[in-house]
Amino acid sequence: MKNQILIVEDSRTQAEFLKLLLEENDYKVAIALNGKEALDLVRRRKPHLIISDINMPVMDGFELCHRIKFDVGLMEIPVMLLTSFSDPSDVIRGLEVMADYYLTKPCNEVYLLSKVRSILSAPAPQHREEIQKGLEITFEGKDHTIYTNRRQMLNLLLSTYENAAETNRQLREAQSESEALNKQLKLKIYELKVSEERFRSLVLTVPDIVYRIDQEGSFTFLNSAIEQLGYAPEDLIGEHFSKIINPADVDKISLSAVTKKYKGKKTGPKDSLKLFDERRTGDRKTSGLEVKLVTKRRKIKTGVIEPLGEEMIVAEVNSTGMWGGSPDSNRSVFIGTVGVIRDITDRKKLENGLRKARNGLEIKVSEKTQNLFKINKDLRHEVEGHKRTTDELRLRETELLEAQAQLIQTEKIGALGTMTAGIAHELNNPMMGMLNFTQYCIRHTEEKDKRYAILKDTEREIKRCASIVQNLLTFSRIEKEGEEKLQKMSMTPLFERVLRLLAFRIEKENVSISQHVDERTPDIMMKVSNLQQVVLNLLGNALDALKENDKKEIRIGVRPENGSIQVIVSDSGCGIPPEILPRIFDPFLTTKPIGEGTGLGLSVTRSIIKDHKGEITCKSEVGVGTEFILLLPIEHK
Ligand SMILES: Nc1ncnc2c1ncn2[C@@H]1O[C@H](COP(=O)(O)OP(=O)(O)OP(=O)(O)O)[C@@H](O)[C@H]1O
Ligand SMILES: [Mg+2]
Repeated sequence: MKNQILIVEDSRTQAEFLKLLLEENDYKVAIALNGKEALDLVRRRKPHLIISDINMPVMDGFELCHRIKFDVGLMEIPVMLLTSFSDPSDVIRGLEVMADYYLTKPCNEVYLLSKVRSILSAPAPQHREEIQKGLEITFEGKDHTIYTNRRQMLNLLLSTYENAAETNRQLREAQSESEALNKQLKLKIYELKVSEERFRSLVLTVPDIVYRIDQEGSFTFLNSAIEQLGYAPEDLIGEHFSKIINPADVDKISLSAVTKKYKGKKTGPKDSLKLFDERRTGDRKTSGLEVKLVTKRRKIKTGVIEPLGEEMIVAEVNSTGMWGGSPDSNRSVFIGTVGVIRDITDRKKLENGLRKARNGLEIKVSEKTQNLFKINKDLRHEVEGHKRTTDELRLRETELLEAQAQLIQTEKIGALGTMTAGIAHELNNPMMGMLNFTQYCIRHTEEKDKRYAILKDTEREIKRCASIVQNLLTFSRIEKEGEEKLQKMSMTPLFERVLRLLAFRIEKENVSISQHVDERTPDIMMKVSNLQQVVLNLLGNALDALKENDKKEIRIGVRPENGSIQVIVSDSGCGIPPEILPRIFDPFLTTKPIGEGTGLGLSVTRSIIKDHKGEITCKSEVGVGTEFILLLPIEHK
């Protein structure tokens, strides 16, 4: 069966803690929150041990113990009182109420358990027989009656002693612990001192100015690098930092002035303010603050104050806030600022020099670029000039080729002309003879005679031959500088004469002729019969082209044109196929049936126009019509 323990404790937490500890060690535990509640429980069921606190409401631990020890039915239950031992009179009180054991609070768990174990394994005390008469004692001027028996008294005193010894042991333990800690602390302080010393000598020897200022902005430390400004560190200790700052810059870099300006405005990490008396630490501390420092001034003999060496030094400041713990709160408090000042005057000068050099370089580069642009432009002009020359050359080449072709053509025609003239001349005489003979025979033959018609056919054919020969002669003669005289005349009578010649055909074939002659058209120098032949050839060709057409129209136009006159003869005839068009001016080219055309008409025409220093061109479209355009100069030069 498990031993039962009653815990009497007004603090629920402490009671539960004890309960848990004892239950873990296999005891059955009940809790009462004061002496009265405990007494009720004990009367109902006796525990093997009562562990009771002393100070409790309703009924305290002494009273509870007294009630139990003076109750015959309960007195053998051992009672352990928990005391804080602040007062030795508690021991007397414990003896008075016959408490069995004392245990000091706070309980050492191991000690408590070993004590509980030893109490519960000891034989039950025989109080009743051993109780003696009350023993009168005086302690601290007060009388006390002690009823307890010797064993109980011894137990109580022993447990008191044990408690005291335990407390003593704990104290000694704590003392040796604190001694060890103290030793460690001393070591740390020593290390700290050494490190501080090392740090201090480092700080003192670095070429940068290292400063520390207090919450008010007064220097509390400066290394010897401050001598760069002409000061000894002690000149400035206790002085406000603004003393070494260019007066114009003070408001830009001191916390009190800057925060006034930025009140209510938010700054991010990029536009974060930079301060000489920085309070912030970590990422937000000041780095790269550029500031002008003033050097120490000295009085010279005349009483004038002048700077020592260079008046201003450009410096870069990095600073951070220093915060320390306050002894009476966990909050850290602002102690001051520590910072490093680096002289960057030379760097700035170098930067300025570089900037100037760069600007100079940029100007030079731009000049060079402009020059290059100009050269480029000139080159482009030159290239364009070359291109123009090449184009001109190409044009000349084409012209040359054309002239060459023309020359070959002229040569060909010239040779042909000489030959034709010879043949024509030779043929002319016998042909005239043949014509005379034939006409003689016709005259002596009756019309009804069958031979009459044959002779008539022969006469017509001979006449045709004669006309061909005549044409050939005209052609060759024109080629050899036509003999006819030039005279100034209008084109109008020329057209009228030719149209009269063709009137019979025009009427028979039902062709409509329209003429448009500009009144301003001047007379031109011409060989009349030659130009008449030109007009006859053109109109003859036009009439031939209209033969198969329903729409039969010929238009004649004459108008002045830049020192020349333009003559147009157009028809609504069959048109010229494109493959023939380039060759129509070649001699003997004809598309007409054998016996109808010689192919000399246009060839002769062109020779005549050339003889007049003019031009002839042709535009034609099959099924639409043909247009010949003549350009004849007014004067021959
Ligand atoms: N107005 C035109 N319409 C259509 N074809 C034309 C016209 N004029 C000339 N031609 C074509 O050009 C060819 C050459 O004309 P060209 O006057 O030199 O000779 P031809 O008329 O055939 O013969 P010829 O004039 O000696 O009687 C013609 O056969 C014809 O095919
Ligand atoms: Mg013709």
